[in-house]
Amino acid sequence: MSKVSLTGIKPSGTPHVGNYLGMYKPALELASDYDAYYFIADEHALTTVRDPNEMRRLSYEAAAGWLALGLDPSKVVIYRQADIPEVFELAWILSCVTPKGLLNRAHAYKAVVDENAAAGRTSDDGVSMGLYGYPVLMAADILIVDANIVPVGEDQKQHVEIARDIAEAFNRFYGDVLTLPEAHIEESVAVVTGLDGRKMSKSYGNVIPIFAPPAEQRKLVMRIVTDSRRPEEPKDPSSDGLFQLFELFGAADAVDEVRRRYADGGIGYGEVKERLAEALEATFAEPRALYEELMADTSRIDAVLAAGAERARKVTRATLGRVRKSVGIDG
Ligand code: TRP
Repeated sequence: MSKVSLTGIKPSGTPHVGNYLGMYKPALELASDYDAYYFIADEHALTTVRDPNEMRRLSYEAAAGWLALGLDPSKVVIYRQADIPEVFELAWILSCVTPKGLLNRAHAYKAVVDENAAAGRTSDDGVSMGLYGYPVLMAADILIVDANIVPVGEDQKQHVEIARDIAEAFNRFYGDVLTLPEAHIEESVAVVTGLDGRKMSKSYGNVIPIFAPPAEQRKLVMRIVTDSRRPEEPKDPSSDGLFQLFELFGAADAVDEVRRRYADGGIGYGEVKERLAEALEATFAEPRALYEELMADTSRIDAVLAAGAERARKVTRATLGRVRKSVGIDG
């Protein structure tokens, strides 16, 4: 039996270049060696999104993003979490074997508690049960398809470890029922530099969105922060965020040339930015066109997701059946 790769995208905003390199690209590559289940984590987004129309739009955007970036629905099972009721039932069963202390240590929850403490508020302020139980729902997503690996960005590593801990807790009570998952993190691009030189992250507001119009992407590239060294001064390419981005998107021979000219002196940041903007445009022109086409007629997305849910449920029903039996609620 081939191994299973699963990942989820929380529909919470347009994907950026860092997401593409850290998650979409490695996940799509894994799909050729693994049985892949890639889904839209809309129920997770309910912890933050409060507007139903925005919720719908964000879910479509997430699905369109996957498809535009090359996910082939005949190879990868793509679905919406909310279409798989088994996930939800498994989440409850898992919550009954999950030590509360495990969730107290989850980064996302702890961050809110720490913010509350710093602001002199009570520790539960703004904490919903959804936020607190988020890692349990995520464990259910992962364990329901017997995932072996979970391609995610560094920020989700702890969640996958918690899923593994929960599976182990379950197996201690009920025997060898659940498969232990492992995070798959793309080390080579774990940190992609953002416009301001810090890690590219939506929370820093320093991202280059993948599907933004080329003119907008170009404007952002021109804003990348550089030092004031002059073109003729030699520079170390390996410590330059702008070069690192070009290295990831430029053609190999162009990258070699620019690297050499950094080291020897003789290239200005303006030229590198120009070339980076061109490379981004070349990389994302086709995905952008497909993305816009899909968003203009979402019925195609509906059809793909409906077919994906049907395929996924063959597996999720079987896993839930096995779990129900092992805990003794199989009637
Ligand atoms: N928590 C993930 C994020 O915010 C999304 C997610 C939900 C997920 N369920 C998952 C990722 C299962 C991997 C596996 O990005």
